[in-house]
Amino acid sequence: MVETSTQQTDISPAPEQGAGKDSKKVFVKTYGCQMNVYDSTRMTDVLAPEGYAETTVIEDADLVILNTCHIREKAAEKVYSEIGRIRKIRDARGADAKPMKIGVAGCVAQAEGEEIMRRAPIVDLVFGPQSYHRLPSLLKSVAAGEQVVETEFPEEDKFKHLPAAKSAVTKARGFTSFLTVQEGCDKFCTFCVVPYTRGAEVSRPAGDIVAEARSLVAAGVKEITLLGQNVNAYHGKGEDQTSWGLGRLLEELSGIEGLARLRYTTSHPRDMDDSLIAAHRDIPSVMPYLHLPIQSGSDRMLAAMNRRHTRRDYVELIAKIRAGRPDLALSGDFIVGFPGETEADFEDTMSIIREVGYAQAYSFKYSPRPGTPAASHDDQVPEEVKSERLQRLQELLNAQQIAFNASKVGDTMDILLERKGREPGQLGGRSPWLQPVHLMAPDDLIGTLQTVRITGITKYSLSAELIAPSNANAA
Ligand code: 5AD
Ligand code: SF4
Repeated sequence: MVETSTQQTDISPAPEQGAGKDSKKVFVKTYGCQMNVYDSTRMTDVLAPEGYAETTVIEDADLVILNTCHIREKAAEKVYSEIGRIRKIRDARGADAKPMKIGVAGCVAQAEGEEIMRRAPIVDLVFGPQSYHRLPSLLKSVAAGEQVVETEFPEEDKFKHLPAAKSAVTKARGFTSFLTVQEGCDKFCTFCVVPYTRGAEVSRPAGDIVAEARSLVAAGVKEITLLGQNVNAYHGKGEDQTSWGLGRLLEELSGIEGLARLRYTTSHPRDMDDSLIAAHRDIPSVMPYLHLPIQSGSDRMLAAMNRRHTRRDYVELIAKIRAGRPDLALSGDFIVGFPGETEADFEDTMSIIREVGYAQAYSFKYSPRPGTPAASHDDQVPEEVKSERLQRLQELLNAQQIAFNASKVGDTMDILLERKGREPGQLGGRSPWLQPVHLMAPDDLIGTLQTVRITGITKYSLSAELIAPSNANAA
């Protein structure tokens, strides 16, 4: 599931790298989930050998790619207005300027297909998530003057083509990295477009994942987040030719020296098997944080959503995971105003939040996605009711998040220092529970794990001080 696509992030591309004098430039704008962030990286990696360097300046680009997300409301409309904006930028370069090609990738591309060319003929290339490895050959057709739409789900397994991009992926862009282990989803929740835009669930062979993780670590990465729309449905071929679940994969990855932290996102309650639960208990590098959406606390709504589990199943599952890892922080996704949701159903959602306790969570008003079963239900909830419920729900979630953060004040913990902070002399990193942490520390500690004491909280982050200002305990 794309459940972590909850942050509708607008991620700017990484700084320019390796731009040779004659090289072409690609500007990639990424919307939505971490999967898209990873895919954008992979696209630029596939394009690098073709002479494309990444740029952050759209005006300079020979190729602009919008890597789109379809999970939010009016996603396609937003893409069309962005294309209009790019057109203005392109036209302002004047007739003598080098041509600017425009590509639309991601889930809106997959969902809209030919329609994009019809509504925005300026677009040269529309390609879905299954075709990124084919980008160089698609661009050749574009260069030959064709308008290309590539949104088929090919018979071949696209992961087979990943090794080609693997060497490039290892040019790590920091100390944390995403790594896609599976794609697609077979769950068919009735509100969700993912099974249609990303297709059926496919897992990468474990050996490829381990090799990619090793090269990331060799390039300096200390923390890897395994990605998948329904990541814990992972069932890749293991190095011993048997089928490995995510727990077994984490065990293997935890053996990589220098890989201090492992995370994964995003999971479905039905796929939390015993070996994954055991991984949380037994593997120190598996961080005590779990994004496990329930969407609603009402069994009636869970059934209508086709979630295939009850509230009780979820509560029992959480208890089982917490038995092995009592400090586990939970994150989730919630939808309010699903068709037919009554005030009593909504109260069930509020009560599950109180019962379980979330360190952090994402919440949405239900919005119909064309082609999904729930979109045609005739008992849609009025907009004002959804807004009012969302506000109440978010107040509760915010209060829980602040309480969780406050509970860490005075504690000692290891922080992976990832980057410079906003203030001079400040560095930023993450706690094991994924909380952003800021502290004063010398720049040469970036990329190391440091033991800190939490001194206070700001709205959604923690402030801290170094306990032993040295890099002696760096991972
Ligand atoms: N309406 C509202 N929220 C949705 N999500 C997915 N589809 C919809 C929809 N049609 C939310 C779910 C999912 C998260 C990624 O986005 O909570 O877990
Ligand atoms: Fe997640 Fe359900 Fe969508 Fe699959 S269908 S990605 S499980 S919300």
